[in-house]
Amino acid sequence: MYVINIGRIHMIVPQEATRLCGHDMEEAQSSLENAWLRVEDGKIHSFGSMSELTGDMLAGQDTVDARGGLLLPAFCDSHTHIIYAGSREGEFLDKIRGLSYEEIARRGGGILNSADRVGRASEDELFESAMSRALQMQAKGTGAMEIKSGYGLDTASELKMLRVAARMREALDARVKITFLGAHAVGRAYTGRQSEYVDMLIADMLPAVAAEGLADYVDVFCDRGFFTVDETLRILDAAARYGMKPKIHANELDCSGGVQAGVSRNAVSVDHLERMGAEEIEALRKSETIPTMLPGASFFLGMPYAPARMAVDAGLAVALASDYNPGSSPSGDMRMVMALGCIKMKLTPAESLAACTVNGAAAMELGGIAGAISQGRDASFIITGAVPSLAYIPYAYTEPFIERVCLRGRWL
Ligand code: NIG
Ligand code: FE
Repeated sequence: MYVINIGRIHMIVPQEATRLCGHDMEEAQSSLENAWLRVEDGKIHSFGSMSELTGDMLAGQDTVDARGGLLLPAFCDSHTHIIYAGSREGEFLDKIRGLSYEEIARRGGGILNSADRVGRASEDELFESAMSRALQMQAKGTGAMEIKSGYGLDTASELKMLRVAARMREALDARVKITFLGAHAVGRAYTGRQSEYVDMLIADMLPAVAAEGLADYVDVFCDRGFFTVDETLRILDAAARYGMKPKIHANELDCSGGVQAGVSRNAVSVDHLERMGAEEIEALRKSETIPTMLPGASFFLGMPYAPARMAVDAGLAVALASDYNPGSSPSGDMRMVMALGCIKMKLTPAESLAACTVNGAAAMELGGIAGAISQGRDASFIITGAVPSLAYIPYAYTEPFIERVCLRGRWL
């Protein structure tokens, strides 16, 4: 199948580039004007200039006319919590009246509020509601996503969430990676007994998750008021014995040592990073760990934005993700994330796109597989309507821009 009359293809990177670091993120700007792209077996087969396209090449092929729209790789959203039951707009009102995220959590709201509801929901109910969120994400151009557990907080409910995630991986066109986040908060049955909860997580939850082969990664909310660095390291070391690599929540609420903890265990990514200084950047510079920032949570909670500009200038391969969840970021719209990357974090449109695509892929170990335009990668891309330039997309940030989405060779 050929896509023809593409106004411009963006994010063409060499096949071997599994991430873009620092100022190389500007390469997202590298583009081919007036182009065609061929898809074969769900992969990008080849692409080139319309002036070199011959009738012979198109003989017997399906063609799709992009009518001058841009072609961008589909977004890679490397941090979501989209399996949950019910929304939390009651807490939204509490926040409007002045309560902080931490105060709401201390009053038994927040994550525990969602855990109560997930505990009562059936696997099928969770599947239905999470699928509808994921399908919306796909329609908005997301072609790879990570999905976390973490609203179960007891063994049975964590397994229930992970099974839902595994079913979603089968059902969706997007690629899915799955993360076990039993250490999102202390389950209600263990209130006041945090270290016993961690013991139970290591003794019961981890082996059960591993036995069913349900998770690619392990996550811990390593932050003030949640899990300590010591507890985090215990959990990461135990998970490593089952082959689960870390992708952790760190430095959202405090300079908690979470970044250094993640780096010390070769985390695939450390995520949030709203509170981060020179020490954390230095630790990341010496590592392969992807710093993943979640501007939707800063926007929604009124928190500081993570220092993306500083991290890119320091040469890091920054990723941006939605953090889609009912408490701190009830949106999986990666175009909005890309816009916040520009408007609030001072990334250029090309850098922000790279953070939402190729580096998001790297944060799910999909570097070289998704998140960019090169031969052999997933044929997962967005065709835009008539937009004058890449910069227009984050600039006119609420204007519909997607004409069509193709995920692994299938048009939505
Ligand atoms: O990434 N920070 C921790 N966890 C989620 C929020 C979860 C919730 O409030 O339900 C986050 O922002
Ligand atoms: Fe999160």
